[in-house]
Amino acid sequence: MRDTGRRAALLAALMSVLACGPSNGEARTEAQAGAPGIGDTDFPTDGNGGYDVAHYALKLGYTPASKQLDGEATIRATATMPLSRFNLDLKGLTVSGIWVDGAAATFTRAGDELTVVPARPLSRGVPFTARVAYSGVPEPVRDSTNLGTYGFVPTPDGAFVACEPNGAKTWFPGNDHPADKAAFDFEITVPEGVTALANGEMRGEPRTTGGRTTFRWRETHPMTTYLATATIGKFRLKKGTTAGGIPNLAAVDPKFDGTLDKFHKVSGEITDYWSTVFGRYPFGSTGGVVDDFSAGYALENQTKPIYGGFEPDDGIIAHELAHQWFGNSLSIKRWKDLWLNEGFATYAEWLWSEHKGGRTADQIFAAYHARPATDPIWAYPPGRARPADLFNESVYSRGGMTLHALREAVGDRTFFTLLKTWAAEHRYGSVTTEQFVALAERLSGKQLDPLFDAWLFQPRRPA
Ligand code: ARG
Ligand code: ZN
Repeated sequence: MRDTGRRAALLAALMSVLACGPSNGEARTEAQAGAPGIGDTDFPTDGNGGYDVAHYALKLGYTPASKQLDGEATIRATATMPLSRFNLDLKGLTVSGIWVDGAAATFTRAGDELTVVPARPLSRGVPFTARVAYSGVPEPVRDSTNLGTYGFVPTPDGAFVACEPNGAKTWFPGNDHPADKAAFDFEITVPEGVTALANGEMRGEPRTTGGRTTFRWRETHPMTTYLATATIGKFRLKKGTTAGGIPNLAAVDPKFDGTLDKFHKVSGEITDYWSTVFGRYPFGSTGGVVDDFSAGYALENQTKPIYGGFEPDDGIIAHELAHQWFGNSLSIKRWKDLWLNEGFATYAEWLWSEHKGGRTADQIFAAYHARPATDPIWAYPPGRARPADLFNESVYSRGGMTLHALREAVGDRTFFTLLKTWAAEHRYGSVTTEQFVALAERLSGKQLDPLFDAWLFQPRRPA
């Protein structure tokens, strides 16, 4: 499910038509290799070109003691150009076989690129199914200077799975870039006594045979690969429904035993509150997972935000749940627009504080704005998140400040209508900063370029 790259695909098709010339009055196109990247110049090898994934079915077996993962990924996709071969992203692990539409394919690997050569070329616009059998001990991405440890992270009792920005490739082959969203089914088998938590809702009760238990989960709404999880371990669960009627599942590692009830309750309350501010909750359930791996961050995994090794306070829960609208339902087409996720989720923290009678958004804004001109957030324009420093504080705080400056400029009525309209018009879609600016201008009737330019794009403190 992708709506970027269409033009590139059309252009490629047109060029190959021109190159081959018409034959029998029909435009003929030669099958070509799909690109090894989806076209995000900041992350040139992330994702892939030439196809659009609709669905991943991930059948996984995991044994915490040996860290052995056995996987079978069935990927339903449509070719967006005639393909002689295409790539999947996969880091480490051993591939034992690939089948495309049931026929054995050949494949090669180079770095994190897995190139699949189907027995027959794939035609443009035609759906195909690729099945990949693989296994091994997953290696998370370890980036000591910037992103920390992310991806599929083995823990003593299972695995902590949080993949932003590009760690999905550490546990399943796919199109690992947010521009290609898809639905997911998970079937995860683990030793009896261990729980496997994935996105969406559980299908049926877990089934145990021969000392192993299988959990089935399904996320029917479009999801980016980095929001997929298969978090495994000993967990205490609490199920329920929010006052607003949304199924709510909280899970905590036994180390956080005493925090389960409160975590469940607060996650439910915040989900309901955001539904009044941002519009109807986009997914089938809410909740969250507190694991004991000290990641140093939380991640807004779709329907199940994950908190890495700490009891979350209501501010961070408000942040991760705001991402269900901004980041998950609406996701970015390219990483440089990350402020559309983090600036919005940060501003949501301020709104939550105001709602609870703490500091108002205006007070929080003023405190940031008072930072001296030499503060690093003024040198980093949040509207162009940098690949080497993607989650810079500016993308969060100055991104949030951008929304507050906008609120001041257009007034509360227009501003809150804008948040709801943005979430509704692009529900389950992919967005860019230009689209947000255009909508803000349309709803306010104001020319807002100077405001957005100063807040998002200039390397200096706005007046
Ligand atoms: N999106 C997360 C948040 O809500 C941050 C993820 C950081 N990822 C990482 N690999 N450090 O703040
Ligand atoms: Zn965030």
